[in-house]
Amino acid sequence: MQQEKSSPDTARKKRIALSANSGKKAQKANHSTHPIVQLQNVKRIYTLGENKIYALNGVSFAIKKGDFVTIMGSSGSGKSTLLNMIGCLDLPSSGKVKVNNVDLSKLDDDGLTAIRRNNIGFIFQQFNLIPTLTALENVEIPMIFNGESPARRRKKALAMLKNADLPLEYANHKPNEMSGGQQQRVAIARALANNPPILLADEPTGNLDTKTGHNIMELLKELNAAGTTVIVVTHDPKLEEYAHTTIRIQDGEIIE
Ligand SMILES: Nc1ncnc2c1ncn2[C@@H]1O[C@H](COP(=O)(O)OP(=O)(O)O)[C@@H](O)[C@H]1O
Ligand SMILES: [Mg+2]
Repeated sequence: MQQEKSSPDTARKKRIALSANSGKKAQKANHSTHPIVQLQNVKRIYTLGENKIYALNGVSFAIKKGDFVTIMGSSGSGKSTLLNMIGCLDLPSSGKVKVNNVDLSKLDDDGLTAIRRNNIGFIFQQFNLIPTLTALENVEIPMIFNGESPARRRKKALAMLKNADLPLEYANHKPNEMSGGQQQRVAIARALANNPPILLADEPTGNLDTKTGHNIMELLKELNAAGTTVIVVTHDPKLEEYAHTTIRIQDGEIIE
């Protein structure tokens, strides 16, 4: 795996200030008590033949706007299932999930798509970039779905890549021409393309070496300081130091 250098703090701070995601939102980054995510007794049961798997077995918690949360647990504890609930990618078997005070169970598919589009950015361990598209084009994809004009898309995508500290000479590179850390930066820029208030990350450093993983977590920390609520799920105890709040999950239940 390739390492990456961290960039100078001052330059980075400037970029964060320039970010489309800061501005008004930064002023609101006051860690207010309003929960932006709420789960009430959420269960997710998978049925495999005769067997029932309680991937989530009655999970309740609330996450405050502006928080930086890590959800920690070993492999198979239900972390991805949980994050998919918050990200409107999956619905509970029972219980309630609210995002921005909207009860997801009351929405149809279009409603869920709208909530997801307006509120959620998602990043993954495997980056999940489209291999045939350049970095810039990958970041533009969510803006196309959001109906932005081509000129505005390009301009915004470049700003998002810059904000994610991708050296601009990589803007026209395809994923296989970039290191893991660079691909994750593109994925973060894409996740933030529509300025969502919530960024969800599923093991975002799992495919990166320690130093690059640290740089990515630093970037998430800066985005959080600029107003984005960040929720990271991980089995890596080292990531806990970045969080304001830690939630522990074991066998589909919150243990702390
Ligand atoms: N689509 C599925 N079908 C059946 N079982 C699943 C499915 N997805 C996850 N599980 C099971 O649910 C549990 C929690 O999985 P997951 O949320 O992926 O855990 P984690 O992300 O913490 O590793 C595991 O036992 C897993 O095998
Ligand atoms: Mg997982």
